[in-house]
Amino acid sequence: MKFDLFIKKPLHTLQMEAQGDEDGKGLKKTLTAFNLTMLGIGAVIGAGIFVLTGNAAAQYAGPSIVISFIISGLACAFAGLCYAEFAAMIPIAGSAYTYAYATLGELIAWIIGWDLILEYMFAASTVAVGWSGYVTNFLKENLKLEIPSYLTNSPILYDVEKGWISTGSFINFPAVFIVVLVSTLLVIGIRESVKFNNVIVIIKVVVILLFIAFGASYITAENLTPFIPENDGTFGHFGWSGILRGAGVIFFSYIGFDAVSTAAQEAKNPQRDMPIGILASLAVCTIIYILVALVLTGIIKYDQLNSPNPIAVAIDSVGGTLAWLSPLIKLGAIAGLSSVVLVMLMGQPRIFYSMSKDGLLPPLFSKLHSKFKTPYISTIITGFFASLLAGFLPISLLGELVSIGTLLAFAIVCIGVMVLRVKQPNANRPFKAPFIWVTGTLGAAFAFIQMLGLPADTWIRLIIWMALGFLIYFLYGKFNSVLQKKNAE
Ligand code: ALA
Repeated sequence: MKFDLFIKKPLHTLQMEAQGDEDGKGLKKTLTAFNLTMLGIGAVIGAGIFVLTGNAAAQYAGPSIVISFIISGLACAFAGLCYAEFAAMIPIAGSAYTYAYATLGELIAWIIGWDLILEYMFAASTVAVGWSGYVTNFLKENLKLEIPSYLTNSPILYDVEKGWISTGSFINFPAVFIVVLVSTLLVIGIRESVKFNNVIVIIKVVVILLFIAFGASYITAENLTPFIPENDGTFGHFGWSGILRGAGVIFFSYIGFDAVSTAAQEAKNPQRDMPIGILASLAVCTIIYILVALVLTGIIKYDQLNSPNPIAVAIDSVGGTLAWLSPLIKLGAIAGLSSVVLVMLMGQPRIFYSMSKDGLLPPLFSKLHSKFKTPYISTIITGFFASLLAGFLPISLLGELVSIGTLLAFAIVCIGVMVLRVKQPNANRPFKAPFIWVTGTLGAAFAFIQMLGLPADTWIRLIIWMALGFLIYFLYGKFNSVLQKKNAE
């Protein structure tokens, strides 16, 4: 059999697949532009804004974390426009994986599909760990119920000097709990899951708007001055280098808008609605983030924000008149983090679904439930591994892997869009990213620069993960690829 590692899936085949099987065997098409936007917001607003913003302001940027949000938002906008072009053109569940299959060939598609596991499954686990932190704190502080710490932490921790150390804890039980709960919901159905998502997205957005509206009147010029604290002599500690480091850290808070693209096959009118879903959710979140960052650092001095619960800390610092808002913020955060876990755990099986349909993963991964019409086996497999990661690994290690994996996907998507513009200039593009050569190049460059900012350890883990992926492709995917088989006939 003759192999072509860079064999490409013809665009018209993809577009035909996107139309779905008329006999009703495919995924159900139920999602509207509103649902898709809510899915995007559901995936985006989470641990990043509720936890990382405060930490990044305290350690790297002070009030100028606002500028970090603008920079990172801009970088995501370039990638978002490229995603939108692809998503309208090839509305298939696999997202970046499918786009790469059409433009850069099978091996790169496999690489990106394998890499997306870092974005989706690992992000679900990361945010589940953040969820556990908020729930444990809420139960303890507000309901006076204490879960023993050996059941709420990862058993191991990575220390830069000492390496891996044992924490004495057994498992992060609440993190496992939320993953199992959400996975069960996802097996039952996407429409039910989307309804649940809409409700919690509204709760978390309302809570954040309350924070912005009530917090705004407590902003003082004193807290915001100097807006860009002077660099303390170390790169990344305040000043302009601090703003850049801050942008790298809070990039995590933007991750997820691309998750909209994994639901393409379940969208009613994907060609029109995918770009709306991706770009609207990104725009809404960017505005919310900038305002939150401004209010947060305006009502409390930034050096007091290095806490796992910075927004509640800021509210508490104002005193009695806003005390009612503090438990609401915690509940909003818990709701917010739940929806991130939901959308990420929904995206992953749909990527597996596409990869399995193409023969790169075993057929098991694309098996749909006879009654619920959901890819239930891959949902259960994803839930199983995500709960292991959430139960046993620390949040920092998971979070950095998510960022590097996502940035790699962004870079490949931006390059892919440009490649396709050259190779198939006349293909039908319901949405075109403006100034593609500038947008695509800057999108890829921003992603790559942010990857370079991540620690060497994270790079090593990425390389090991990718090596494992190569092994699987050369032992399984290559021999079972539907396209390779067709090609050999
Ligand atoms: N953007 C998501 C979050 O901040 C991953 O939780």
